[in-house]
Amino acid sequence: MQIVRNSEELARARAGLTGQIALVPTMGALHAGHMMLICEARKRADKVAASIFVNPAQFGEGEDFGRYPRRESEDARMLEEAGCDLLWMPSVEDIYPQGFATRVSVTGVSERWEGEARPGHFDGVATVVAKLLLSFGPDVALFGEKDFQQLAVIRRLVADLNIGARIIGVPTVREPDGLALSSRNAYLSAEERQEALALPRALQAARDAIRGDTPVFEALQNARALLRDGGFSRIDYLALVDAATLEPLDEPGGEMRLIAAAMIGTTRLIDNLPV
Ligand code: PAJ
Repeated sequence: MQIVRNSEELARARAGLTGQIALVPTMGALHAGHMMLICEARKRADKVAASIFVNPAQFGEGEDFGRYPRRESEDARMLEEAGCDLLWMPSVEDIYPQGFATRVSVTGVSERWEGEARPGHFDGVATVVAKLLLSFGPDVALFGEKDFQQLAVIRRLVADLNIGARIIGVPTVREPDGLALSSRNAYLSAEERQEALALPRALQAARDAIRGDTPVFEALQNARALLRDGGFSRIDYLALVDAATLEPLDEPGGEMRLIAAAMIGTTRLIDNLPV
């Protein structure tokens, strides 16, 4: 696996790749969820590249940019073992050089939920993903359903700007007990790790209730109670939404998704389930 850092090295390495090329953008601290994206990428392309860039622009004031886990050499080893061909690890100056003044902002689908709880977050995501896709020029790019709203924002971005990459969404990889894998799980104490199970369980309970014709409002209220009883201190949202528009639904209908974000201790976790 070749490792490149700046844009000159990237351009040279990219020119050497032939056939269908996939890109898997990440912020590192890789786990089996990221590895599933690499594995799916290998099925869909001849060559697979991953990027690792902890993007300061998508972290708000007081969020975890400073303490976000950084594990370069371990990440590189995992990618190599998974059959990744190229690893791109730009510096902040490579992505945002002196004078950088552009911000990509997707309206509509980005505005509720994560967009409301984390102002500016999706501008940071859209700007960096646009830059990564336009700099590298992959044929396909893979993103996880774990970040369901992010995937919807990226689909909108790529469609609106005619960015020539096919976007593939990959289902969430979970621990055997149901907790969705996340780089942020590393922040949890042993007790919080146990309590965190309330999040997938609350979503499952809401899904089963909605499938069983419980009114949506009641199913969501009960799921919020499960989260609070399970040890979550703050619930940013727990909602039933239209899977394409992310608009909230009062009644079941069409393709639906349950989405949630909540705090346990000082760690903010998100998760979602299809209904
Ligand atoms: P990061 O959180 O590192 O995630 C990188 C990719 O892995 C994202 O597409 C995310 O949805 C996916 N992913 C994370 N956990 C997963 C899981 N348990 N199962 C399946 N896929 C999972 O998301 C970002 O980075 C950044 O916002 C980025 C898109 C790289 C832009 O900076």
